[in-house]
Amino acid sequence: MCGIIGIVNKTDCVKGMLTALSKLEYRGYDSSGVATITNNKIDYRKVQGKLANLKELIYNKPLAGNIGIGHTRWATHGEPSNKNAHPFVKRNCALVHNGIIENYLDIKKSLANQKIDYKSSTDTEVVAELMNYLIEDGATPLEAMKEITTRIEGNYALVFLLKNSNNLYFSRKGSPLVLGLSKSLNCVASDTLALPNHIDKVIYLEEGDIGEIGNGQAKIFDQSFKVKKNVIHDHISLQSHTSKNQYKHFMIKEIHYQSKSIDDTLLNFAKKNDNKVYLPQFKFDTKKINNLSLVACGTAFHACMISKYWFEEISKINTLVEIASEYRYRENSVNDKTLGVLVSQSGETMDTIKCLEKMKRQNINTASIVNVLGSSLTRDSDYILPTLAGPEIGVASTKAFTAQLTVLALLCIHIAQKKGIFNESTKKITNDLFTIPGNIKLILKNEKTYSDIAKDLIEAKSIFYVGRGPMYPLALEGALKLKEITYKHCEGYAAGELKHGPLALIEDSVPVVVLAPSDKYFNKTISNIQEIKARGGEIILITDKEGAKKSSGLADKLISLPDSNLLTAPILYSIPVQLIAYHLATLLGTDVDQPRNLAKSVTVE
Ligand code: M6R
Repeated sequence: MCGIIGIVNKTDCVKGMLTALSKLEYRGYDSSGVATITNNKIDYRKVQGKLANLKELIYNKPLAGNIGIGHTRWATHGEPSNKNAHPFVKRNCALVHNGIIENYLDIKKSLANQKIDYKSSTDTEVVAELMNYLIEDGATPLEAMKEITTRIEGNYALVFLLKNSNNLYFSRKGSPLVLGLSKSLNCVASDTLALPNHIDKVIYLEEGDIGEIGNGQAKIFDQSFKVKKNVIHDHISLQSHTSKNQYKHFMIKEIHYQSKSIDDTLLNFAKKNDNKVYLPQFKFDTKKINNLSLVACGTAFHACMISKYWFEEISKINTLVEIASEYRYRENSVNDKTLGVLVSQSGETMDTIKCLEKMKRQNINTASIVNVLGSSLTRDSDYILPTLAGPEIGVASTKAFTAQLTVLALLCIHIAQKKGIFNESTKKITNDLFTIPGNIKLILKNEKTYSDIAKDLIEAKSIFYVGRGPMYPLALEGALKLKEITYKHCEGYAAGELKHGPLALIEDSVPVVVLAPSDKYFNKTISNIQEIKARGGEIILITDKEGAKKSSGLADKLISLPDSNLLTAPILYSIPVQLIAYHLATLLGTDVDQPRNLAKSVTVE
């Protein structure tokens, strides 16, 4: 899918644009280009193929300028070639565009008496010619933007560089654009991942927004050209993830970061209140996918297990979830309707990479959900869906896990949308995803509750986590987190499975953490709680207001979380699970960030 960067800098912007374009490579592209303006002259370089070709071209034929636009193109109208690559440079303007202008032939017709010699077969060049014509006809840049956005139909993110102007002009409809602001430069990009490191404020443009950015200024207008004030978000630079700041450990810093990382991940792919998800465009027909193979290791595997409940209930798609080291050697069968999904924080986990190789040999489409762009998985998968958790330093995965869940939830909604099975109730739970960041902040306000629970667990020889539905894999994750950093014995089970064996281990005062929002499984879980209590187990129940009411008196300790739904519950309930493990580890004095025997990136079999 195409990528856009536009930069207004106080010094040269070409190097910054090339860096941004390399951060957009993960979206897939077949050509690239940049244009700048100096002494009121627009100049450009564009080439087919890899970004390295563009870099080489600029090395041999340098380009300079403080204001510029850049693009990675993924062909829709016209084959991948130099002539079809963006930017399209005309006498008065240069244009980069993501999306499709559906009525470009009508616009072409309306410009017929201009005797234009079109150089490409793209829809974008026609819009560049329209801007050129409007400017020559005397329109101001903003008047021209207004005229263009009323005349074009389809999906677009447009960024124009104009002669006689120190600003960039942009608009979006159906294709994301984000503004990055800082003291030294302002920019506009199709993806927050492309923003330069020192950007400290971010504005997500809304449907129909039109605007301009210049040095030290940014203005956004709505469709009736009234000045708008979009929400300004803080942007955390990559470097700031690698220092602990006021926190004692990276792990607790990363736990606290989750409201931000989930917000960033959501805003990168979806928009509040419009119930649409903007994932990079797949080249296969999503409607035709009828089974998913989700493969990962450790915590990422638990994220996949949780999402199976979502894919099967919301997207109505058969989902196989498997540990990578098993999938790799198994004689499995796939078909041309299978989508392989690989999930990994590092993108370097050997077992997961080997599964990607196997899937490629099997000739199935692959999409990877990865936190580290540029990692092996991102280089070799057909599609990349990035998590925006930022670098994760603690060996115990926390913010990457909830970001993986967020992307899996968005993928699930995307498939449901494409299959046309997206109903009112699914729309509601999609919107509820945006309540997660605020609710995480609420949970973190009560951190002491979890350190108190941890105190009571110090003496325990063995601890259990149980849950049903999506809370079952989260119970596995809770147990893994606790084992990893406290070195205590801890098991996760499906609550309904206890009676098939593990109940034998429950005796006086064995702590059992029960994860049970008041969902369709709740009453069944209550029965399992009774079974545990009857054997002397100590119940720590994590539920919501309704669950607290229904279970009155049953739990030895009760935590009530904000209300949730099928998609939001596993993400919200992750926070208590992580906090209990973290506080117990600090009380026990273990090496929280670098637990014994473990590595952050597992690059061996
Ligand atoms: O980098 P990956 O997500 O592929 O890593 C997978 C597992 O090694 C990882 O999740 C591991 O289980 C963590 N230490 C869990 O906290």
